[in-house]
Amino acid sequence: MPVNLAVTFTGLRFENPFLLSSAPPTESDANIMRAFDAGWGGVVTKTIGLHPVVNVAGPKTKFLRADADSPRVSMQKRPGTALHSSWNWELISDKTLDWWVPRIARIKQAHPNRVLVASIMAGSGSDEELQHWQTLARACQDEGADALELNLSCPHMDRKDMGSNIGKDQGLISIVAQAVKEVSRVPVWAKLTPSTTDIVEEARAAFLGGADAMSSSNTFPSLPLIDPETLDFEMNVDGLVSSGGLGGPAILPLSLAKMAQLTKAFPDKAFSGIGGVSDFDQALNYFLLGCGTVQVCTAAMLDHAIGPTVIKTLVQGMRATMEARGWNTLEDFRGLRRDRVVSHSEIRRPDSKTYRGGYDAEGYAPTPASSSADR
Ligand SMILES: Cc1cc2nc3c(=O)[nH]c(=O)nc-3n(C[C@H](O)[C@H](O)[C@H](O)COP(=O)(O)O)c2cc1C
Repeated sequence: MPVNLAVTFTGLRFENPFLLSSAPPTESDANIMRAFDAGWGGVVTKTIGLHPVVNVAGPKTKFLRADADSPRVSMQKRPGTALHSSWNWELISDKTLDWWVPRIARIKQAHPNRVLVASIMAGSGSDEELQHWQTLARACQDEGADALELNLSCPHMDRKDMGSNIGKDQGLISIVAQAVKEVSRVPVWAKLTPSTTDIVEEARAAFLGGADAMSSSNTFPSLPLIDPETLDFEMNVDGLVSSGGLGGPAILPLSLAKMAQLTKAFPDKAFSGIGGVSDFDQALNYFLLGCGTVQVCTAAMLDHAIGPTVIKTLVQGMRATMEARGWNTLEDFRGLRRDRVVSHSEIRRPDSKTYRGGYDAEGYAPTPASSSADR
């Protein structure tokens, strides 16, 4: 049987399981059309809201790079470095719902078989705010959006009833999910924040509210580094900085840990993995933990703004891996490693005769007993 990359996720058919996540690559209809032409199976729009949005003066995103031959990590562009992460303090779309509405319709007319997910966000402090969620949901689905993703996870909101501040409050999560489900005819995904002590509880609250899937992770709260020469933050406005979000390679293991908690707690539910993916070997981690789709931001931003090379690499990598292993569809390997993540006490210990206190591993000083003369 030939390899089939198509998947069904929350009842929607995707040509392949790779989406551009809600971020600059999906901030306009022009970008989204280019993304579909390039081969992305789906796209989540930049988050759409009803409140006015004004971004900070100056750059909204920069990239940290690591030297190969020194411990230096810095936003300064220099040759011979590898991407470490993205750092951003960009808010949601600064375009209005009225701007988005005709564009959602045009994108769907041009690409009826690709999946367009509308990311939406409002407050949650009053009935009026909850109605904003419903207004956004109705407007986007009426124009043809195939699903809604609730942004419960933007890490740089001052408002206590928005973004990751909702995502840390199980009560608000349930209320928002329920309010959107009341009016939605399309699947509802909830994008959770990794900035919480027990993401399983937040997911449970979203599922209780009726959400059909969880997306994780949004960026991790973080600061830019301080330049040792100038003593200024590498990214600042008038010398000032506030907490922003870390994405890209550095968050892959962090986000996987969150995802493992989620897929183990809810093995029969739908999950979309996000964080640090630029090729199939990385995406495979999310699939093996049980995810049904994977989303990409940072890698696409650095590849002609919408990731034409990234999607080609993901699709080729998935096909090659499946052919080599004799897998026909994603269902042949989704979740294969979910049950290998266990509590620490379930990990086998060496028998006491051979135990050397762990001191012969990289990063530990040799003890006299395990010095080279003894070995
Ligand atoms: C500049 C920038 C803007 C973003 N804006 C949004 C947004 O509007 N809504 C949202 O849900 N996530 C937003 N994100 C988060 C990404 O969708 C994604 O969750 C995160 O970057 C992790 O994926 P990555 O490691 O592939 O970058 C943004 C990320 C970046 C870097």
